Amino acid sequence: MAGMQDRGARVRSTLIGLHCGALVLLAATLFAALVAVDLVLGDEQPVAAQAGNDKWLEPARSRLMQAREALPFFPHRANTRGNVVLQPQDFESAELCGACHTEIYRQWRSSMMAQAWDEPVYRALLKLASEATEGRGDTFCTGCHSPVGLTTGQITTALNRSSVEDSARDHPLPGVDCESCHNISARTGLDNGAYVMTPRAHGRPTKFGPRQDAVSPYHDTVYSALHTRSDFCATCHNVTHPFSSVAVERTYDEWLESAYSLNGETCQDCHMPGFAGRAASMGPQREHVASHWFSGANATLLSHLGREEAAQRARDLLARAARIEFEALPERVRPGQDVRLAVRVSNVGAGHKLPTGFPEGREIWIDLRVSDARGRQVYRLGAVRDGETEAGTRNFKVHLGDKDGNELDIEVWNATQILSDNRILPKGYIVREFSFRVPADAVGPLSLRADLNYWPFSQKLADFLLGAGALQVEVTRMTQARARLALSRELARTP
Ligand code: HEC
Ligand code: HEC
Ligand code: HEC
Ligand code: HEC
Ligand code: HEC
Repeated sequence: MAGMQDRGARVRSTLIGLHCGALVLLAATLFAALVAVDLVLGDEQPVAAQAGNDKWLEPARSRLMQAREALPFFPHRANTRGNVVLQPQDFESAELCGACHTEIYRQWRSSMMAQAWDEPVYRALLKLASEATEGRGDTFCTGCHSPVGLTTGQITTALNRSSVEDSARDHPLPGVDCESCHNISARTGLDNGAYVMTPRAHGRPTKFGPRQDAVSPYHDTVYSALHTRSDFCATCHNVTHPFSSVAVERTYDEWLESAYSLNGETCQDCHMPGFAGRAASMGPQREHVASHWFSGANATLLSHLGREEAAQRARDLLARAARIEFEALPERVRPGQDVRLAVRVSNVGAGHKLPTGFPEGREIWIDLRVSDARGRQVYRLGAVRDGETEAGTRNFKVHLGDKDGNELDIEVWNATQILSDNRILPKGYIVREFSFRVPADAVGPLSLRADLNYWPFSQKLADFLLGAGALQVEVTRMTQARARLALSRELARTP
């Protein structure tokens, strides 16, 4: 402990010097980054000149050669100072950080990002992607799902194709951990992992964070305005197909073009809202410490991974995201009549499209049920059949396509276009219509119930990736609307 105090004194005394040094460092990395971006742009191939899957099999060979110095992990856009591959010992484990950052560690540990490398759905798709592209796209996935694994060169094609259990036993690696985020010193773009990883400045461990007044006995701290802004998250939460340029995921751009960005409401405001307490056990008591739950929507996987508290937080967030209402319901209807009704779904809580992210899976839909006074179901649309939402379901989803216009369920590496996208804009709404015939013998009044449901991927996709029955996909009910429709007997049509 005495040694640690000595070290603390030394670090504090060099703090001012460090801030100046950091500026020089930032300037240098930014300059390197500009050069990097230039090289890649200068060598950009016209999209039309690249044919189908070949792009993945021979990912722009010439580009790779010219960009090698600038983008050491091509096609991922991660960078390091001097474009070098880092050493595993440059990084420490989250458990170690957790020794002092107790509460932050506890929260982060149960987030999806903590498990971004070790979760089964990612690894199953990664294996398929790696095989389909003969490993040429391997670094792409790795750079966002395990930044430490990528920048230290530890993740190989063989490791990418191994099972979660095998790699955890023989070669454990972190997902998006403390070091992944707090060693980011700058960014060189707004997608595909365009972060600059700088674990050491002046040879000492350095953490980039949101505080101007943070002093730690264990590591240097550098104030980073980037960490307080949404464009920090953009590096990973905008995914562009590296060869066809299709906008695979656009969570950051969706936010940027919304009222939230105009009003300065950031990703951090909603996903790291803060608690009163200590950021570190020996640090000062603070009124607002950024929380690290990173709650999202994936209750299915969190629950599967035994993170029930985090799963519940995801359900709570989903419940606050949307509103559903019946619109212009008829006063009363007759038995035998064709009824048309409309349901309005509003995105009231998400700072991006609803849903956002992983396009192969994320789906929100209306499950409308109508029953009569005897409890007999007279109509339903939006049930799950054979592991998918049934045909005709009023859903909100993006659909990717290949060069021939075929819809892609899973082979995102073949994507060259977006076929359709009817997800709900931030603060926007969409009205969907239904029509059904009231049975002649229905007994009034009719009860209407519209559930708004979410799943991160269909049961069919989970069964395909992991084997039937391996993962039970949860249909999370986000919210619900109910109404009654009176039946006019006397007006009943005689058949
Ligand atoms: C020996 C205790 C200790 C360990 C171990 C430790 N830290 Fe810290 N850290 C602190 C203290 C104390 C602070 C200052 C807290 C405050 O001011 O509220 C701090 C602050 C920080 C900050 C905020 C910096 C800023 O400028 O906003 C970050 C980020 C951080 N630590 C990351 C880490 C990471 C990542 C690890 C693991 C590699 C780690 N820490 C390990 C004690 C520690
Ligand atoms: C106004 C609050 C708000 C802001 C701002 C916001 N989010 Fe969200 N986010 C939500 C809510 C609510 C959900 C749950 C509903 C959903 O899935 O969209 C969510 C869900 C998510 C999900 C999971 C989506 C899924 O279905 O898999 C991710 C990832 C995410 N947000 C990232 C971000 C990023 C990155 C930013 C900044 C660019 C951001 N969010 C800004 C409220 C917000
Ligand atoms: C996905 C990226 C990400 C991960 C992973 C992450 N952090 Fe953070 N952390 C941030 C951001 C961004 C902020 C600043 C949030 C803000 O200013 O609103 C932050 C803030 C902090 C702070 C300062 C909190 C305060 O308000 O004083 C500390 C300390 C910290 N993180 C430590 C850690 C530790 C320890 C871990 C791992 C257990 C970790 N972080 C994991 C992104 C991350
Ligand atoms: C180094 C890359 C990286 C950075 C930086 C990053 N993320 Fe993530 N994030 C990921 C990956 C990868 C996943 C998906 C993990 C999985 O499900 O396998 C994810 C998942 C999430 C989820 C959970 C989504 C769900 O479906 O439940 C939320 C919420 C989220 N991130 C928010 C943020 C916010 C807010 C920031 C900025 C403060 C941020 N992320 C920065 C890579 C990153
Ligand atoms: C630029 C960063 C980035 C790259 C590159 C990337 N991903 Fe992701 N991935 C994310 C983020 C962020 C999410 C979370 C989005 C959300 O919650 O909807 C995610 C989610 C996923 C999911 C859903 C996981 C779940 O738990 O539901 C899978 C599977 C996945 N990615 C596989 C891959 C594969 C395979 C590759 C390579 C072909 C890849 N990703 C490349 C950032 C990235």
